Amino acid sequence: MVIESNPSLQSYNSFGILARAQEMLRVTSVDDLQDMVQTPFFQERPHLVLGGGSNLVLTGDVKALVLKVELMGKRLVKEDEKGYWVEAMAGENWHDFVTWTLDQGWPGLENLALIPGSVGATPVQNIGAYGVELQDRFFDLEAVDLSTGKRFRLDAAQCAFAYRDSIFKHGAQPNFGSLAPRGLSLESPPEKRTNALSSGALSVDALPADLNLGLANRALITHVRFFLPKKWRAVLDYQDLQKKCAEHANAQPSAREIYDWVCAIRRHKLPDPKSIGNVGSFFKNPTVSSDQCQDIIAREPSVVHYPLLDGRFKLAAGWLIDACGWRGKSIGMAGVYPKQALVLINKGGADNPCTGGEVMTLARAIQTSVYERFGILLEPEPMIL
Ligand code: EPU
Repeated sequence: MVIESNPSLQSYNSFGILARAQEMLRVTSVDDLQDMVQTPFFQERPHLVLGGGSNLVLTGDVKALVLKVELMGKRLVKEDEKGYWVEAMAGENWHDFVTWTLDQGWPGLENLALIPGSVGATPVQNIGAYGVELQDRFFDLEAVDLSTGKRFRLDAAQCAFAYRDSIFKHGAQPNFGSLAPRGLSLESPPEKRTNALSSGALSVDALPADLNLGLANRALITHVRFFLPKKWRAVLDYQDLQKKCAEHANAQPSAREIYDWVCAIRRHKLPDPKSIGNVGSFFKNPTVSSDQCQDIIAREPSVVHYPLLDGRFKLAAGWLIDACGWRGKSIGMAGVYPKQALVLINKGGADNPCTGGEVMTLARAIQTSVYERFGILLEPEPMIL
């Protein structure tokens, strides 16, 4: 495996921020990675797992060995009367994978079309869009424990999925201590068991010690598997998709039609990171108590809010930021996307890019004004390094 020294990370983060890594290793083989992890060279260095870089804000050079995940491959693992089990390796592009499953006639991922990034990053974030979250289609994943080099497998419960969250976002992060351990409650590791879908005749049951402390920077996801049921059901609850149904006078669209609609909606309101650097939604949609929601509605009747099953309400962060007048505003080369206030953009392109500092100054100014007006502290969605 070749170690690159001092490589530029500009083309590996979707904001296009200029930064360098101390060293970088392209991970193209699981076996090679397992061998590498066991070397003193690896164990002596802090490391950072990098997928598509579409959920990352770099605020300086990365003083670590960057593991650039380039594991490629996708396949149908199993088909029966219930559905399809489909696997992709972590380095595959997510949107290309979604497109491939539909081309094969396996519907289910259409609402998640055009989300930037790699397959390996999707469980970390539990990506979601237009009424579907990754956890709704997820079957299991395999990863390499970066302290032992052993492979292990996690099912959905073990991944502790929540809104834009999973076990991979929590834990002590050596040298990147921005996320505090949250003590996720997990069942104790299952007994060693055979796993009919695992990718090889290897032990995939060596779960890392202290799994309940989280796996941020402790694991590198290698394979992700999805279950796509043959009893497919269109998910059209989201308002933008309802509008498409009305526009096309089509109440029963096919998966391919939903895919096309989702692509069109996203292209219309979200910037393409290939031309305008961004990381998608910069903040999570906050949840508030029923009382707080009623108070905000009384003062701002048009606030976009959605009731949750537990009696709380989710508010549209984009609306809150927009209401504070941020759309189209900027600090240095970091700006708020004029069509969607929840998205921060690099206004300077590749030649004169924004810095991570400018992005964070803008983000903090937005947080402050939303907090002062609504009493809500917005939580950033991407990883800030
Ligand atoms: N809104 C405004 N002004 C704005 C932006 C939004 O008034 O500047 C209003 C919209 O009119 C709408 C509401 O806020 O009524 C929600 O906006 P939108 O439908 O664009 O969705 P969102 O809540 O902002 C979430 C996800 C997106 C996902 C869409 C569609 C989060 C943090 N974001 O955005 O995910 O694509 O729903 O499901 O949950 C991402 O995570 O990177 C991402 C793009």
